[in-house]
Amino acid sequence: MRVLVTGGAGYVGRIAVELLLDDGHDVVVLDNFSKGHAAAIPAELQALTVDLRNAGGVTKAVLDSRPDAIIHFGAVTIVPESVRSPGLYYAVNTAGTNNLLSAAIDANVERFILSSTAAVYGTPDDPLVSENAPLRPISPYGSSKLMAETILRDFSAAYGLKYAVFRYFNVAGATSQNGEDHTPETHLIPSAIFAAMGRREPLTLFGRSYATPDGTAIRDYVHVVDLARAHMMALTSLEQSGEVFNLGAGEGVSVAQIIDAIERITGHAVPAVDGPPRAGDPPVLVADISRARNVLRWSPRQSDLDSIISSAWDWHERHPNGYSG
Ligand SMILES: NC(=O)c1ccc[n+]([C@@H]2O[C@H](COP(=O)([O-])OP(=O)(O)OC[C@H]3O[C@@H](n4cnc5c(N)ncnc54)[C@H](O)[C@@H]3O)[C@@H](O)[C@H]2O)c1
Repeated sequence: MRVLVTGGAGYVGRIAVELLLDDGHDVVVLDNFSKGHAAAIPAELQALTVDLRNAGGVTKAVLDSRPDAIIHFGAVTIVPESVRSPGLYYAVNTAGTNNLLSAAIDANVERFILSSTAAVYGTPDDPLVSENAPLRPISPYGSSKLMAETILRDFSAAYGLKYAVFRYFNVAGATSQNGEDHTPETHLIPSAIFAAMGRREPLTLFGRSYATPDGTAIRDYVHVVDLARAHMMALTSLEQSGEVFNLGAGEGVSVAQIIDAIERITGHAVPAVDGPPRAGDPPVLVADISRARNVLRWSPRQSDLDSIISSAWDWHERHPNGYSG
């Protein structure tokens, strides 16, 4: 299948591209390289430098590449930045998705997969979050993604586009070739690894008095390869018009458990200091992944904490400057 991958120079997108190529698909990357890495793109891979906000550029890219399917990872993704600069988030994540969908219809693309996020749920009432939980985002990032989901659903209803929306919980881990290289790095596992490697200041633990067994917040971490594999499965099995799926490990681990695991696996201490709990951070947030298990027949295979941490540690050790060397 010929697949256009937006955001294919970023963390999740690049690893999805790796799996797509391994599966024999024909891949074209579309990215504006604002956060993605040109060095992550091998010379033989076709990459189009296009901004999702540029409707004409997006239409030309999709018409020229004539994909059978689009996997749309391209987005701006930092929650606090979205609070400071909401316009950027609605322009890229919402209007950019509208541009891409309009181009997809012009080019008769049949299948579309959208990266969405657990941020669409906001602060759920129930710690085990199903796709039917109320959609009450508390940041412009979450709202911009929820609007993108709505636009996709409406395009599907109007034009018969087959689609999947994947709401990711926390993505982590690496392959031997590709890993996480965000600037700034806001995610817990790479931040804790960098603290253990002495590459940043001590990690701040936001809250130690939650109603959890060790007092730190519990979240759901899915290995990026498991996550990317769900996209491969959806590409070939999208028969209904569209469906929304949570993607996570389906199990929670606490911040303290992550720190303990890094220390145990690597033999390095994780320097950490206590900070206040963050507004809107619930004690426990875990994905109910039964729909992905039942409908897609997907299940996580390597989303145990040890596999996630050892793969991430290996990648960061071998790439001390990320994709820059
Ligand atoms: N990493 C996570 O834990 C996580 C969790 C939930 C959802 N997601 C979603 O997964 C997707 C990928 O996330 P990631 O962690 O790989 O992020 P990333 O920042 O590594 O990748 C995003 C890519 O999109 C590109 N991009 C940004 N703005 C663009 C624009 N205007 N035009 C074209 N390309 C643009 C960037 O250059 C980058 O390559 C995003 O849609 C994100 O919202 C990620």
